[in-house]
Amino acid sequence: MLEARGISVRFGGHMALSDVSIDAPAGQVTGLIGPNGAGKTTLFNAITGLLTPSAGTVHIDGRDVTRLKLHRRARHGLARTFQQLELFTMLTVRENIRVAADIHHRWSPEPGDPGVLTEEIIDRVGLAAVAGERVTALPTGQGRLVELGRALACRPRILLLDEPASGQDETETERFGRLLVEVASSGTAVLLVEHDMSLVMEVCSNVHVLDLGQILAVGPPAEVQRNPVVLDAYLGTDTGGAP
Ligand SMILES: Nc1ncnc2c1ncn2[C@@H]1O[C@H](COP(=O)(O)OP(=O)(O)O)[C@@H](O)[C@H]1O
Ligand SMILES: [Mg+2]
Repeated sequence: MLEARGISVRFGGHMALSDVSIDAPAGQVTGLIGPNGAGKTTLFNAITGLLTPSAGTVHIDGRDVTRLKLHRRARHGLARTFQQLELFTMLTVRENIRVAADIHHRWSPEPGDPGVLTEEIIDRVGLAAVAGERVTALPTGQGRLVELGRALACRPRILLLDEPASGQDETETERFGRLLVEVASSGTAVLLVEHDMSLVMEVCSNVHVLDLGQILAVGPPAEVQRNPVVLDAYLGTDTGGAP
């Protein structure tokens, strides 16, 4: 379980986040939505330790990790993907995932063979047919799966995904959604930043709405979608729901 409390981040004179709190329980996919510039990526950066907030705390399974550096937090089971694909472009699909499995294996007390784990993940995310291809040869949709696979190779307890379906077509997105539900049901807390509202509605148990660095609403997706404050600020009352 991830708990971020009272997170504030300032860039110069601009408050990118003001007193933001968010929970992501194990076993569920939790949504984080909001317009561009709302502060979603900044919140991920604060949670993972990529930047230091001016206020707030981050707890993983009840343990305060606020003062820990990025790599120490990773050892508490935190993994993420990036809004822009960040793959090792010289490597194949298999090698991209294997690198993460090897790093995890080096420090983790869990037994296991990183080679075996890599093959399991390749199957799980559905990349067996292209495992030997260089990642630059793949369309973005499959690149997103490689990134998910690499995050899974860290065997995360908490998985933060920053717009993981962008670049995927409708069929890929549906399959991706099922995969996320599967990952969550194996006990991982998944925190999903996503613009594709049908994906959010489909897979999230709970959704947090962020606007201008503040949480506007929290609740089950259907409820949040009906919330007049959210409709007004984000979804657009005249579009019938879609952003
Ligand atoms: N490193 C940075 N320096 C200055 N301003 C930043 C930086 N990163 C993000 N911002 C600003 O903070 C706000 C939130 O950005 P971001 O977290 O990327 O939003 P989102 O991911 O919701 O689109 C934006 O106004 C953005 O311009
Ligand atoms: Mg972003």
